[in-house]
Amino acid sequence: MYICLEGIDGSGKSTQILLLEEWLNKCGFEVMRVFEPTDSDIGRLIRKMLRDPDATGENFQKTLALLFAADRMVLMDEIEAAEQSGKIVISDRCFYSSIVYQNDPSWLYELNKFVKIPDMVILLDLDVETALKRCDGKDSFENKAFLEKIRERYLELARKNDFFVINANNGINKICEDIKKVISPKIGRCI
Ligand code: ADP
Ligand code: TYD
Repeated sequence: MYICLEGIDGSGKSTQILLLEEWLNKCGFEVMRVFEPTDSDIGRLIRKMLRDPDATGENFQKTLALLFAADRMVLMDEIEAAEQSGKIVISDRCFYSSIVYQNDPSWLYELNKFVKIPDMVILLDLDVETALKRCDGKDSFENKAFLEKIRERYLELARKNDFFVINANNGINKICEDIKKVISPKIGRCI
């Protein structure tokens, strides 16, 4: 099973993924945690480019979209191998991040047509102001207007697809309980 957590920067994905892993391990599942951008050479290049002051330019964004897709493609073998050995894969972001953060969805779907679609997508939804306060302006992407647009795109995507939308404006433990409630029925243990 391939589960993806999505949400704007600072929505609590990394925090919740660690708690989820702990819970799933207690339930007897082996877990592989992955994240995008990855720590591959391509992922490292992406992170460097994200710090560039021109990161919001249109052609820069297209270049990033290509790199994100390449970085993701490399990750797919790892995910497939983990799934085949019975592990639950929990991913911090997946191709839906490209759909909301980069432009031109039809091109992005084409670009990402060979990547695996997660079995479950959990969207941590949070107002932008709180998210920004939490992450303290880490990179050039983290500005209010931009993240407002991203949040709206996420919510629209969630309506069109079967995402589980979780209110991330709660305490860490409450959010974790809400996530467990949506995962439990899918894994058939730990209900
Ligand atoms: P993301 O991976 O989505 O960027 P993080 O999990 O790194 O988000 O969380 C961003 C910051 O907010 C971290 O400092 C984290 O400790 C804090 N945080 C996470 N969840 C909550 C929460 N529910 N309430 C308050 N602070 C939180
Ligand atoms: P990440 O390190 O997950 O940031 P955070 O922990 O703050 O959520 O991701 C880095 C940035 O990359 C983040 O702003 C979202 C962006 N991103 C894209 O623009 N497109 C993509 O396809 C992915 C996977 C991430």
